[in-house]
Parts: sequence; C-alpha cells; structure tokens
Amino acid sequence: MKKCTLIGTGLIGNFYTMALHGQRNRDKIVGVCSRRISKAEEFARQWDIPFYTDDMDEAINHPESEVVIVALPNNLHKEVILKAIDAGKGVLCTKPLAMNGQEALELLQAAEKAGVFHGYLEDLVYTPKTLKSVAAAKEGALGRILWARSREAHPGPHSDWFWDPKQSGGGAIIDLGCHCIEISRNYIGKDIRPVEVMCWLDTQVKPIDAEDHALGWVKYANGAIGQFEVSWNYRGGMDLRDEVSGTEGTLRLDHFLRTGFEMYTSGNQDAYIAEKAESEEGWLFPVGDEVHELGYTNMFTDMFNAMESGKQPTESFYDGYVVNCIMDACYRSAKSGTWEPVELSDWRGRDDVTKDHGYIDFDDEFYLIKKERLPDGKKKVILKHKSTGDLSEKVVE
Ligand SMILES: NC(=O)c1ccc[n+]([C@@H]2O[C@H](COP(=O)([O-])OP(=O)(O)OC[C@H]3O[C@@H](n4cnc5c(N)ncnc54)[C@H](O)[C@@H]3O)[C@@H](O)[C@H]2O)c1
Repeated sequence: MKKCTLIGTGLIGNFYTMALHGQRNRDKIVGVCSRRISKAEEFARQWDIPFYTDDMDEAINHPESEVVIVALPNNLHKEVILKAIDAGKGVLCTKPLAMNGQEALELLQAAEKAGVFHGYLEDLVYTPKTLKSVAAAKEGALGRILWARSREAHPGPHSDWFWDPKQSGGGAIIDLGCHCIEISRNYIGKDIRPVEVMCWLDTQVKPIDAEDHALGWVKYANGAIGQFEVSWNYRGGMDLRDEVSGTEGTLRLDHFLRTGFEMYTSGNQDAYIAEKAESEEGWLFPVGDEVHELGYTNMFTDMFNAMESGKQPTESFYDGYVVNCIMDACYRSAKSGTWEPVELSDWRGRDDVTKDHGYIDFDDEFYLIKKERLPDGKKKVILKHKSTGDLSEKVVE
C-alpha cells in the first residue's frame, strides 16, 4: 500500500482520487491540499481522506505520506515538485511536467540528485487499448513503425488558467499535444531520438494569447514520423484518436467518441455523460468506466509497482522532459516556419539509429515494390532492378 498526498483538487485531482479510491484499491490518498480550506474539507469528506489542509508545506511534509501527487496548474508544478523532493518524498506529476524543456530538465536533475522516485502521469499511454496496441507493435505486429498519428481535440479546457499562457506555458499544444507526442513516442520507440519538428499553430476562434489549434510533425532518427492534431475549437465532445501504421500493419483506436457505446435521450435526465461532452440530449457517446478507459488505474498501478520494486515506471520525469523539449521545438517551428531541431541536452536513447529503408528482395536481381491481386484474379508484382534501377511489372502465377 502506498500513502499519498494530493496537491490540487480540481478536475485531475478528482480523476486521480477516483482511480485510487474507486473499486477496492489498496493505495490511498491520506492527505489533501486545496487552496481553500472549505474545498479541502469537502474533498476529504467526499473521498474519506483523513487529513486536509490549505497549507502546501504541511501537506507535503505530512509524516504519513510517502508520495506527493501534483495536480496543480502548470506554472505551479515546479514549486511543489521541488518541495516534495526536499522532503525526500516520491513525486508524481501530471502532464505537462513543466512549462518548458529547461524547467523540466531542472526538475529531472533535482529528483535524480536527491534519489527520489519520480513518475510522469501521462495517463493516455496507459489506456487498456493503448497498452495492448503498444505491446502488439513491440511484438512486431505492425512491422517497422512508419507513422504514428494522435489526435486530441475538444471544445476547450474547463478552467481560466489554461487559457492564460503565463500560467499554462502555451495553448492547445502544451495542454493536449503533450499527450499525443508521448503516445507517438511509445509506438515509435522511446529510445529513438526525436530529431526535428515542423508545426503549424493558429488562434482560430478564441480571444486568447495562445494557440487554440495546432498540427505538428515530429521526425525520428529511424525515419518514422509522429503526427499530432490538437484543438480547443473542436465541437461535439472529446475526440481522442490514434492511428499507427507500419510496414506490416495498421492500428486505429477511438478512445472516447464512437467507442461502440451510443445513447439517445430526449434530455429527460440531469447527469454527467463524459468529460467535455457538449450535449445532454440527442445521440450521446458515454464512456463505460472513464477512469479506467482514460488509463488512470493502469497508470497508478505501474507507478506503485515500480516504486515497490525499485524500478523506473514506464513514464518518468525523463519522458516528461523529452516531451517538453519537443513542444519547445514546435513553438520555435511555428514561429520560424521551418523544421526546427529538438534540443535535448540530455539524450539517453540510442545514437546508432539511421533511417532504415528495409527494401524487400523479390529475388537476387529485383526488389519487390508491390504485390496486388487484381479484380480479374491475377496477381501482379511491381519490381525494381537492383543495379539498373529500372521499374517493371509482371503477372505471377
Ligand atoms: N489527462 C490528464 O492527465 C490531465 C487532465 C486534465 C488536467 N491535467 C493537468 O492537471 C493539472 C491541473 O489541471 P486541472 O484540470 O485539475 O485544473 P483545475 O483548474 O480543474 O484544478 C486546478 C486545481 O489547482 C488549485 N490551485 C490553483 N492555483 C493554486 C495555488 N496557487 N495554490 C494551490 N492550489 C491552486 C485549484 O484550486 C484546483 O484545485 C494541470 O497541469 C493539467 O495540465 C491533466
């Protein structure tokens, strides 16, 4: 059993507590800190948490707690993480780890220097569908991964601070792109270096000083491309989708809308449907077990298993740091209009990877470009001569 202190009682603090205190879970939140003592008390009563306070230091240093969970606005992560490290506690931080790559590096270095456990709470790489898909990809089901595309789009965040880049560090990229980038890294390989980035962003709708929509491409050292599509202007709920393709296969995942659960109602009800659902009547897309399907339960299981066995979790501060550096490159690219390098002063993956063409031999003389059975039933191959480079086609069988 792990005993945790939760700092922040907003949307994500609530999801984390539902994951930890739901079902018959063993790991518990033993103390909670909120800005307002009345909110802390209400939250503690709701979730049967024995200790509550509005004093962050008191919460972090509470003798019962071993782990501090950071669930605060992005500009406050650093302060809390450093306090938790100073107190010698393990620390789990929500996404994004930091406001930028430099700040993320400071936090990573501080945690490692102190030797405390650190985890990056990137829930979307822990959804049941993602875990199974990443495992299949690692087993080779898709062959060499060429393209990992991830989308998170919804009608915009639920609290004022997200919309203020001074508190959030940016717009839809820092809020949603961080998920998509890390999902792609998990498929492409976290040991494969993200080399450069091209990004478009715009403020299409909202009166804010940050992007409300962005698209980006992250090029990896092995030639794979990670693509993210994020928006705060998307209507119709929260669209969480991934598509991955490789030389031997393809995956498509719908995590939230169109998961096979559809409900029609005239509106004769007053109940929560799903995060960021825009409507409470008509055809709706509820989510069965939202906490599980968004990855929170598997995420905490991985964190605490790793902690107990003295290992690193699947997602550590190092991953949060890499994601922050990729996002920094996105903002630079959107400004410069060109590919921008991903600046990783601390790279721990492979450096021996180059783009692998992986041509397929048809025979000693030819490469196979394509094989296809045509509507007349015949099978045709398209070939390239290995020395002359000439292209040809022939019917086989
Ligand atoms: N899927 C996910 O992993 C996911 C989803 C949503 C949010 N988040 C992240 O979680 C963090 C919090 O987001 P949220 O959606 O819970 O926001 P929120 O606005 O719902 O909640 C923020 C909480 O922080 C508290 N707070 C704000 N300023 C404070 C201060 N100065 N001192 C102490 N407490 C303060 C607020 O009272 C509130 O309890 C952000 O970093 C966000 O990016 C992650």
